[in-house]
Amino acid sequence: MKTSVRAEYAQRRAQLLEKLGSSTAIFNSAPHAVMHSDVEYNFRQNSDFYYLTGFNEPGSVLVLAPHHEEHKSILFVRPKDSKAETWSGRRTGVDQAKELYDVDEVLPINELNEKLPAYLKKADRIYYRLGHDEAFNGTVIRHWRKAMAGHQKHGIGPMALEHSGQLLDSLRLIKSDYELEKMRRAIAISAEAHNLAMDLAKPGLYEYEIQAEIEHHFRKQGAMGPAYPSIVASGDNACILHYVENDRQMQEGDLLLIDAGCCVDYYNADITRTFPISGKFSEEQRILYELVLEAQKAAIAAVKPGNNFSSYHDAAVNTLVDGFLELGFLKGDKADIIKDEKYKHLYMHRTGHWLGLDVHDVGSYKHNAEDWRQFQAGQVITVEPGIYIGPGLAVPEDQPAIPERWQGIGIRIEDDVLVTAKGNEVLTASVPKELSDLEH
Ligand code: GLY
Ligand code: MN
Ligand code: MN
Repeated sequence: MKTSVRAEYAQRRAQLLEKLGSSTAIFNSAPHAVMHSDVEYNFRQNSDFYYLTGFNEPGSVLVLAPHHEEHKSILFVRPKDSKAETWSGRRTGVDQAKELYDVDEVLPINELNEKLPAYLKKADRIYYRLGHDEAFNGTVIRHWRKAMAGHQKHGIGPMALEHSGQLLDSLRLIKSDYELEKMRRAIAISAEAHNLAMDLAKPGLYEYEIQAEIEHHFRKQGAMGPAYPSIVASGDNACILHYVENDRQMQEGDLLLIDAGCCVDYYNADITRTFPISGKFSEEQRILYELVLEAQKAAIAAVKPGNNFSSYHDAAVNTLVDGFLELGFLKGDKADIIKDEKYKHLYMHRTGHWLGLDVHDVGSYKHNAEDWRQFQAGQVITVEPGIYIGPGLAVPEDQPAIPERWQGIGIRIEDDVLVTAKGNEVLTASVPKELSDLEH
């Protein structure tokens, strides 16, 4: 790791240590996920753990204990083991981790149970994110229970277990220059892949052939792989939000919705484009495409400091509902339609999410039941409105049926947007979305 990158990780830990005060925080590496029998999925580090260490191995735990006399940051790692390394890969080991990871102490993971109590003893609370690793959740709770018992005898010890996201998420939410560099790289590779896919798509090809080209480009350019299962959805498959089968043969006149992005050094891109594979929109496809594009542009314009997280969704919904009323897809009072979410059979998801180490990145969207988080420079969000009219779409009782000629059309346009001091920057601008760029 470069010195500047090591300094960045050290700074992240320092920021969190300062927030922790008299508490102890525990972060564990991701567990291995089983594919089947003796086969595991590729290891993917836990995002919190990676954010604070840059350490890419399983079987590891980071403890931050600012109140401890000697060690404020302690990394537990797997010890070297040549036999195990022959089977499942190299380990950094305790000595090398000491040299490379700038923590106060590195210990072998098999000493965790023995050593952890010393870092909990004087803490007044434990910060931990209960995760999918049930075994490790149990470990933390067991240590907490023991440490609480100490409170009765000694008057000190953690009485509360709190969500570490309360302290960490606001740090992860604002991207550093280093993080933005990684995200820009993931986005550049993903954008190239989308452009390739647009050039290649034509009637007769199977969706998986397009998926293969996209994912080939990801790996060829050094990305870790797809950030999430690629969606290559032609025809009415585009009306299924999480369509991943990608096994249909594309037909003349289809729209193709591609939602695909890659992951570079754990930072993700998330891009969707929808375009006519024959180079020409039908009348219905064009009208709906233009409406989604208008909604997306209205939403992007609302992404700026001074606005809150809800405002850009509201802008998209406002535009879409105007269009739906004009097309006769909805009837009634516009304000009531929006308040009662009567448009949700046509647009059933929100307009986007934070993007970063997780595709749906951490960070609360609301401070409390009423107040939404304000946009702030350094946040990255997706802007991804859509319209989905599946065949035989069920509509609410008091709303009009959608004529058949509109059915089977699914459209989403998704950009990744950086909030800047003055407004925003569309990071994914190199993937075309204007009508004139998509028709030929
Ligand atoms: N591709 C995942 C999402 O758009 O949220
Ligand atoms: Mn997406
Ligand atoms: Mn998304």
